[in-house]
Amino acid sequence: MSEIKRGDFGKDFDWGVSSSAYQTEGAYNVDGKGLSIWDVFTAKKGSVKANQHAFNATDFYHRYKQDLFLMHALSIQNFRFSLSWPRILPNGVGEKNQKGLDFYDRLIDECLDLGITPWITLYHWDLPQALQNKGGWENRDIINWIGEYAELVFKKYGDRVNNWMMLNEPAAFTGLGYFLGIHAPGLKGLKHFLPAMHHAVLAQASLGRLFRSMNSDVNIGTTFSFSPVDSVSDRDRDVKAAERVDALLNRLFIEPLLGKGYPAESLSFLNRLEKYIYPDDLSLLKFDFNFIGVQTYSREVVGHAWLTPLIHAKLISPRKRNVRQTAMRWEYYPKGIYRILKRLNNYPDMPELIVTETGIALKDQIEFGSIKDVDRSKFLKESLIALRKAQQEGVKVGGYFYWSFTDNFEWAEGYSPRFGLVYIDYSNQKRILKNSAYIFQKFLEDQISIHQI
Ligand code: FCB
Repeated sequence: MSEIKRGDFGKDFDWGVSSSAYQTEGAYNVDGKGLSIWDVFTAKKGSVKANQHAFNATDFYHRYKQDLFLMHALSIQNFRFSLSWPRILPNGVGEKNQKGLDFYDRLIDECLDLGITPWITLYHWDLPQALQNKGGWENRDIINWIGEYAELVFKKYGDRVNNWMMLNEPAAFTGLGYFLGIHAPGLKGLKHFLPAMHHAVLAQASLGRLFRSMNSDVNIGTTFSFSPVDSVSDRDRDVKAAERVDALLNRLFIEPLLGKGYPAESLSFLNRLEKYIYPDDLSLLKFDFNFIGVQTYSREVVGHAWLTPLIHAKLISPRKRNVRQTAMRWEYYPKGIYRILKRLNNYPDMPELIVTETGIALKDQIEFGSIKDVDRSKFLKESLIALRKAQQEGVKVGGYFYWSFTDNFEWAEGYSPRFGLVYIDYSNQKRILKNSAYIFQKFLEDQISIHQI
């Protein structure tokens, strides 16, 4: 394989870009929206770098038409975005906010008018604060709360939207939010994490059953974060530490869904889950989605560490390893996508895989009116080569969504890591296409082929 073109991936392959409500919409208290856990978390000093928040974010709430127009101009035909639960149900359940519902009506219609297919994520981390006040993901009632919200939005938009994803990266929102406390709602410790994790695993399957019962033809999936995990040495204790980290990052949430149960043989702390598991739970964790959303950015290198509780492992940073890193301080590792896809494909009965997020953060700057994000273009090309290689070796992969369309609010890191194909000047909300956006456009329009580097 010396060069690849869009056409090589097949005519049904879905090419798109991804975003999420909280990271882009802003308008946090406009038109009847309720507060989310992220509105509350970011308002607390010290939660986010430089105390930044997303009260305005990229102002997508008011500028969605302009953004969709740019997307259309770049020949991007699929757009993955999320709905803000508290914009629709300010208290999480009960009373609806008509203006919130109307916003997504307009957004969906605008997509369809431009020939852009909407892909909706139900839950991309912005839990209504009203529900966090009742325990959030630690409260088992979350399964019913999210079910009520799901039913409402599917009844409203399901006539026009055929592609739905349930949860965005449960390992991230439970691990960072309910174990390490560095994301909203800022809680720390196993006693928060275990129930939150189990309820997220129950919720993803239960939402799947709910959607299927409402319409058996709808294309449904749920997304997970994955990273290749390598051991820093061949020593037995490092190899075992890497296996534990791998179970935590790559197996804990997907294996129960695939009917394999929790990876308790690798993670001894899972024995403490017992008190949250009800008699029939294990059979309820499984569901056969139409697709699995794969989100991957980098890889981890792991060594043994006695002092780290529970997992006895440490991540060895790219800086310590002296390898190239991105603005997130993640290793530059575009071939991770190949390794993850190959590995997922080894599970028996794995549904179709769709890369629902991958991308690179840089500290892009405007120079003479343009943004020469050379590293992003390179990352894009190398990840497309890795993707094609996996596909050629038999992996059932049906789509690729670049994260993200525009720069946006990168959670605890604030605005400084920029992931977008489109630059946002936050001083005036101007959009400027980066060089990588033109490369993606040309690739999508079949004007260029990508040469193996
Ligand atoms: C993923 C999140 C997404 C974005 C990227 C960089 O974990 O799903 O919202 O922050 O990372």
